[in-house]
Amino acid sequence: MALDLKTLLAAMTLEEKIGQLTMAAGSYAVTGPIIGGDVEAAIRAGRVGSLLNLWGATEIAAIQKIAMEESRLGIPLIVGFDVLHGHRTIFPIPLAEACAFDPALWKATARAAAGEAAADGVSMVFAPMLDIARDPRWGRIAEGAGEDPFVTCEFAKAKIAGFQGEDLADPAAVAAVAKHFCAYGAAEGGRDYASADVSERALHEIYMPPFAAAIEAGCAAIMPAFMDLAGVPMTAHQPLLRGWLREAQRFEGVIVSDYNALAELMQHGVAADLTAAAVLALRAGVDIDMMSSAYADGLPQALARGLVAEEEIDACVHRVLKLKQRLGLFDGVLRGARRQGGDSAEPALARDAARRSIVLLTNHGALPLSPTLRKIALIGPLAEAAGEMDGPWGAAGDRNDAVSILNGLKAALPAAEIFYAAGVAIKEGDAASIAEAMPLCAEAELIILCLGESAEMSGEAASRAELGLPGRQRELAEAALDLGQKLGRPVVALLSSGRPLTLPWLFERADAVVATWFLGAEAGHAIADVLTARFNPVGRLALSWPRAVGQIPIYYARRPTGRPFAAEDHYTTKYIDCAVEPQFPFGHGLSYSRFSLEKFAAGRQSFRSGDTLHFSVEVHNHGPFDGEATVFLFAHDLVASVARPVLELKRFGKIALPAGESGALCFALAASELAFRGADFQPCFEPGAFAFSVGFDADPSRHRKLTLEALER
Ligand code: GLC
Repeated sequence: MALDLKTLLAAMTLEEKIGQLTMAAGSYAVTGPIIGGDVEAAIRAGRVGSLLNLWGATEIAAIQKIAMEESRLGIPLIVGFDVLHGHRTIFPIPLAEACAFDPALWKATARAAAGEAAADGVSMVFAPMLDIARDPRWGRIAEGAGEDPFVTCEFAKAKIAGFQGEDLADPAAVAAVAKHFCAYGAAEGGRDYASADVSERALHEIYMPPFAAAIEAGCAAIMPAFMDLAGVPMTAHQPLLRGWLREAQRFEGVIVSDYNALAELMQHGVAADLTAAAVLALRAGVDIDMMSSAYADGLPQALARGLVAEEEIDACVHRVLKLKQRLGLFDGVLRGARRQGGDSAEPALARDAARRSIVLLTNHGALPLSPTLRKIALIGPLAEAAGEMDGPWGAAGDRNDAVSILNGLKAALPAAEIFYAAGVAIKEGDAASIAEAMPLCAEAELIILCLGESAEMSGEAASRAELGLPGRQRELAEAALDLGQKLGRPVVALLSSGRPLTLPWLFERADAVVATWFLGAEAGHAIADVLTARFNPVGRLALSWPRAVGQIPIYYARRPTGRPFAAEDHYTTKYIDCAVEPQFPFGHGLSYSRFSLEKFAAGRQSFRSGDTLHFSVEVHNHGPFDGEATVFLFAHDLVASVARPVLELKRFGKIALPAGESGALCFALAASELAFRGADFQPCFEPGAFAFSVGFDADPSRHRKLTLEALER
């Protein structure tokens, strides 16, 4: 018989109710010693209702047993963990995986991660991260799906379907937490945790749509962001949490705060003490207080002083109990936990996800590697850096498990001699070690540079003011480029990073540059697959790649301005010391095949808001390899009551074609998706001309275009 939550709630003391709203961290990962100290006592007393940063079936079962058999009411714990891109099997960082433009893949890796996490006793993952980011100085750009709202909405739906499956009671399902609501990626200066000031239009058209998509996909929970939005910390943002999420979007799930965020309302300067912080968060609709004890220490006071009503607390507790019931947690201590630890369950999926996330940025003929190559110099601090390949948020992955670039190449090219030297460390190094690496380059037929960031240089609290190569890697690279030029040796550069890096000098001089991001467990094998053309690269940039930090924020969906850039006209929007275009546009990514687009057509010449628009385009693979093309469909509302972006992505599609073959890609688009927020920020659909274009990236100079007329409703 289904547990009657109202009866359970009625039986709870105030302390037990607040306990359900309190999430505590285990003292350390449970695969080590069992949790000790006061967390167990708090669980027995009903003062903690959920835990985070713990995993391990045996240990979770033990701590669940304490909650269910040694506390007065036996309410089970939710166990949350940051499973951003894999649990034990680590997949590419989300920014990399977004470059695959493959919702089926996004769902598959989330499904695999959920299964591994649930097997370890985890029932909630603090993912997907849905923060739109247009500022690569912000380290958390690594954790999201890039700059575009449409892509991030598709990413949200795929990830939530993967994590949650059809039913949260499925032992292999976990509750997804869409985070961080909202506009966290607009932190000023790209500094993590810094204030964000964005327009209401930007909120409605850029930063909030992914969360609307997450709610529509049935996301179990949402996490507010740390930062203040125009002076109001998101953790206390009543208009957006209670007003937009709960009332406008009818979100009935749980709102779980970020780590210590309630207490940090005091640092924000909006709460004088924990009681005031608790009141603000409760009024805004935050259900679970992660690690701040503001609810535990502040709510009793707030209640006693009449600042909050117990019914408000009951509403939060009911949402938490409801989620525990949906997760099947009341059914027993083990739920999905079925094994202690365990190796990578998904190497094939990890390798496929990694290959599909790699973006071939430039190639002047050096790639794919010739099968006759017998002497390769592999130079750089990321060549034998398995521990970096998992990137930030390596969850329960064993960092040393990952396949390094060196080992991947050795496995792929057994007949070749691979001379390896790190040359310098990632963040420091000396000229002597650079010189020592040069003879290896002279000995080789081809030089591969393995450059980039360390894993902890992106992710949380990892903003950078400069986006060049850290340490003395540029000196190392230029020494190898000089030698390569002198001896006629091609130089290929691989970039491991959690963000785009501003390296115009490298793109200018190297014979090929590949964005390999942080690809996870199978990094080395995937990179070797692409370098040797065992896999024809399909990755396309999910963000604009800047030439210079000074161009940031940089994104393709900009508004035209009254003086759009025109090279021949001085008084137009530009820089006098840098090109205005990005190094590489959104959607950029080379293949070993050459593709072209022909015959872009629409099924009608005019439409009304209730119509569906149909488009088709013919894609041709000119070879020499079989390959897969990614095609983007953009729209531009040419004249409207407010200035509209010059391009807005409305669809993307992929088509695999044998060399020499053609195929048609079709897109269907509801005209209502062309609506926008008018001057009053209310949704509006206006008659007038719309330009539609298809292309392989967001550079309009290479688009196929047509114009349709929107008629009155
Ligand atoms: C961190 C992050 C958040 C994460 C949480 C729990 O500070 O901001 O993304 O889910 O704390 O680790």
